[in-house]
Amino acid sequence: MFEPSFFTENLETCRPAIYRSGFKCVKCNKSYSSKNIYLDLTLIAGAKEYVEAQPSRTELFRSPLVSFLYERGWRQNFNLSGFPGPDEEFNMAQEYFKPAEGGTLVDVSCGSGLFSRKFAKSGTYSKVVALDFSENMLRQTYDFIKADDTILSSNLALVRADVSRLPFPSGSIDAVHAGAALHCWPSPSNAIAEINRVLRSGGVFVGTTFLRSTSSTPAILRPFDRRIAGSYNYLTEEEIEDLVKSCGFTNYTCKVQQAFIMFSAQKP
Ligand SMILES: C[S@@+](CC[C@H](N)C(=O)[O-])C[C@H]1O[C@@H](n2cnc3c(N)ncnc32)[C@H](O)[C@@H]1O
Repeated sequence: MFEPSFFTENLETCRPAIYRSGFKCVKCNKSYSSKNIYLDLTLIAGAKEYVEAQPSRTELFRSPLVSFLYERGWRQNFNLSGFPGPDEEFNMAQEYFKPAEGGTLVDVSCGSGLFSRKFAKSGTYSKVVALDFSENMLRQTYDFIKADDTILSSNLALVRADVSRLPFPSGSIDAVHAGAALHCWPSPSNAIAEINRVLRSGGVFVGTTFLRSTSSTPAILRPFDRRIAGSYNYLTEEEIEDLVKSCGFTNYTCKVQQAFIMFSAQKP
């Protein structure tokens, strides 16, 4: 089991030091490297020769150009598919996260940190972890944080990790947010099972994604049909509910607008 509990337990006091020098997991004895602005908790971060290919839906977002463009036009296009936009999506998520107030929130697949910054600024959580697999998205997150005086960076940490292998002890997290991410994950079932593992009992998971089109989908949205959607993995409403419940969540609920879905569920 991968549980660098040192990191979450000592986030506030040790973060500057571990950002500078990395740290060793007290449980498995593995060393993790620091990249100065974020902590790299992927398994093969220190590997010299071995490279592991990820699916293109993960690799796309590692590009410096895509990371730069993400909040400069790319994300705004999601509105055409029914996404209400970051402000409204944040407000909707905050409603679901009420049972997690005062706790630790992980913004999984945070991209350039647009929601991580909102969660940190809200003052609702004691700690916020902005987590992504893309080094360049994390660099972009850091640049946005640096440019914003209103963010209390003391409660916001940046972590590189794979959603299918989250670097937190079981039952240690109060809330997990995953905005516009499920369709990008290599294995949604591994990811959601892992989110379930790290959440405490009563912890809340909120995610958004694009729905796969059905016969009732307006023609303009049909490009999101799985057969012609390139490498993305778009699911139907029924598939998402089935998947989330199969991974052990209860109290499933969702809101749908065109191809946009926000779903929430709780760990029993
Ligand atoms: C479309 S962006 C979403 C960004 C942001 N959460 C939002 O709501 O706009 C999808 C993100 O998923 C991340 N991602 C893809 N595969 C991942 C993986 N295996 N583990 C963690 N994050 C991953 C990408 O790097 C990218 O930043």
